[in-house]
Amino acid sequence: MIDYQNVIDTIHENLRDEVNRGLVASYIPELANIDVQNFGIHLRFLDGQTYGTGDWNKKFSIQSISKVLTLAMALSRYPEDLWQRVDVEPSGNPFNHLSLLELENGIPRNPLINAGALVIADILVSLLENPKEDFLNYVRAVVDDSTIVFNLEVARSERLTGYNNYAAANLLKAYGNLTNDVDDVLDFYFHQCAIEMTCEQLTKAFLMFANHGKCCLKTNQLSPSQAKRINAIMLTCGFYDEAGEFAFEVGLPGKSGVGGGIVALLPNHFTISVWSPGLNMKGNSLLGMKALEDFTSMTKLSIF
Ligand code: DON
Repeated sequence: MIDYQNVIDTIHENLRDEVNRGLVASYIPELANIDVQNFGIHLRFLDGQTYGTGDWNKKFSIQSISKVLTLAMALSRYPEDLWQRVDVEPSGNPFNHLSLLELENGIPRNPLINAGALVIADILVSLLENPKEDFLNYVRAVVDDSTIVFNLEVARSERLTGYNNYAAANLLKAYGNLTNDVDDVLDFYFHQCAIEMTCEQLTKAFLMFANHGKCCLKTNQLSPSQAKRINAIMLTCGFYDEAGEFAFEVGLPGKSGVGGGIVALLPNHFTISVWSPGLNMKGNSLLGMKALEDFTSMTKLSIF
């Protein structure tokens, strides 16, 4: 029997004083103020056992991790032709890359790069009566936690500097792959990225992907087939141009965000999240990647 508390405590202890912990994202000015020393891990098994270490209970900006949750909401409410507007291939490029979008006539490579997430945001803006509020309520329902909120300062800060996302949204609009106003879609997108969660809330949010679509309350949020597809997309696209590296070193479907969070899961078993705000050159949490690599090496729990 593995002593999971000891495993995550050991990983935390070995990495917490690491000097080389990457750089906090500064292109969203509000995120530049986060202390790079924060470091937390949380592990949750489907049978209800949970383990936390370090700063597992501090809130942080989930950023791109939200793209998996918007995809889940859109997929559960939108017919399969969602896949005619966004593809399911890894891009091998950074999250905000635009040239493929032009080469491929406005169809983003996958829903986890920014352009793809903007198409999903557009779908939700069309579908929902009060898009931001309804999405936030969906996240609260999935996590069974009404304390989850947007950090409005982070959303505002990204809007003021989000030139790349404005470019992506305008390009999508020019190709006819955005039905709503560019500003409305971006407003929704900047807010979804500005949701704050703790590591503990994130492992709860991602239970539905580990449990064939059933969330923490055991209600069906996705069909088993939809959960399987989202896991496939996380595995192949969740880390952008580092997706191969994450599969190679860690071996779990997962998703990162520039707030320094990473959440990953082993279907039928567990979800795990790490937060360390320092990023590597590819925009993924440097210690987060290492911690997860250590976790699957020590426990030998991976999909492979
Ligand atoms: O659109 C952006 O640039 C951010 N709101 C999210 C990017 C992100 O988290 C990339 N992930 N590692």
